[in-house]
Amino acid sequence: MASVTLQQMSKQFGVVRAVNALDIAIADGEFLTLLGPSGCGKSTALACIAGLERPSAGAIVFGEKDVTELAPHERNIALVFQDFALYPHMSVRENISFGLRQQRLDGAVISKQVAAAADMLDLGALLDRRPSELSGGQRQRVAVGRAVVRNPAVLLMDEPLSNLDAGLRIKTRTEIKRLQRELGTTTVFVTHDQEEAMVLSDRVAVMRTGELQQVGPPMEVYRRPANLFVAGFIGSPAMNFFEVELGRRDGRVACTFGGQTVELPAEAASSLDGLNNGRAVLGVRPTDLLAGTSAPLRLHGEVFLVEPIGPVCYVDVDVDGHAVKGVCEPDHAPTPGDRIALSFAPGRAHLFEPATGRRL
Ligand SMILES: Nc1ncnc2c1ncn2[C@@H]1O[C@H](COP(=O)(O)OP(=O)(O)OP(=O)(O)O)[C@@H](O)[C@H]1O
Ligand SMILES: [Mg+2]
Repeated sequence: MASVTLQQMSKQFGVVRAVNALDIAIADGEFLTLLGPSGCGKSTALACIAGLERPSAGAIVFGEKDVTELAPHERNIALVFQDFALYPHMSVRENISFGLRQQRLDGAVISKQVAAAADMLDLGALLDRRPSELSGGQRQRVAVGRAVVRNPAVLLMDEPLSNLDAGLRIKTRTEIKRLQRELGTTTVFVTHDQEEAMVLSDRVAVMRTGELQQVGPPMEVYRRPANLFVAGFIGSPAMNFFEVELGRRDGRVACTFGGQTVELPAEAASSLDGLNNGRAVLGVRPTDLLAGTSAPLRLHGEVFLVEPIGPVCYVDVDVDGHAVKGVCEPDHAPTPGDRIALSFAPGRAHLFEPATGRRL
């Protein structure tokens, strides 16, 4: 096991700067996810950690050891990819034990380790099957088993669940999380799926066009997104954004949007200091914008769509010409055409500077 430290790690492909000066310190045993949209440099960063790509600048350190110049097989890593390649002519047992057999370990030791991995991944009954006789989720679990059985210092996974259907993704990610907790193997996981990242990780590193935007525990990134990009990327459905004007009023901050004003608490006054013209972007998550409650801050508008998803119902409301999404109790859903108020608690309002996008 080892910590993984990326120091100003960059990777350039010709004119494309795929990864730019990435600084992340991953603790021994931590589960860290690189999260971001397609093309933001997640796979490139992971390939550098694996040794499949050589960084153009910066360093990669495992524990105390600089591994930047080492080949993949000298790093004691295990990799799991999206298109997991199992050996089709080998049984599950042979697939999982392949790396151990190559290391010429004692047969009894191999059997014991394979049995332990199969047990953790619930593959015990499938050991004599061929990959073609398994479901997608079972095959992916075999790929994970083959990776972890060697007891690597660092486990690297690039979108390992993307080929699975929705139900299987959720089941398999639970198994991956449980396994990682049991083994305590330092893990770097790549995904573009924010929910997957939130559920699995000790910390999430959000990337955009090769640059790190924010790194922190899932709920911290969710509750206090560092900028507009992170705020819009994390959370589903996406956060509502309003261009607002901020002004002082009796020690409070008046936040004007369209024809409506909501008064933010005095704490928000410090946000004003960071602005030169009083303009800001207010962000509120749909799940914090509640119909039919009496939270202190309110936006009024006309319902144009009602979307039940089971536990809650989303309501799309026209607020002075802006489409705003909120939630309501399914049993008390309004109907299109109703005028309603969407309320939110002051603590659930996020303010950002329009020019830079940074959190105020
Ligand atoms: N071998 C390469 N040669 C040139 N450009 C590359 C190469 N590999 C990646 N890139 C570019 O580097 C950028 C980052 O690519 P990368 O594969 O790391 O993105 P990603 O975040 O993994 O995206 P996805 O979610 O689509 O897998 C992209 O602009 C990509 O086109
Ligand atoms: Mg990728």
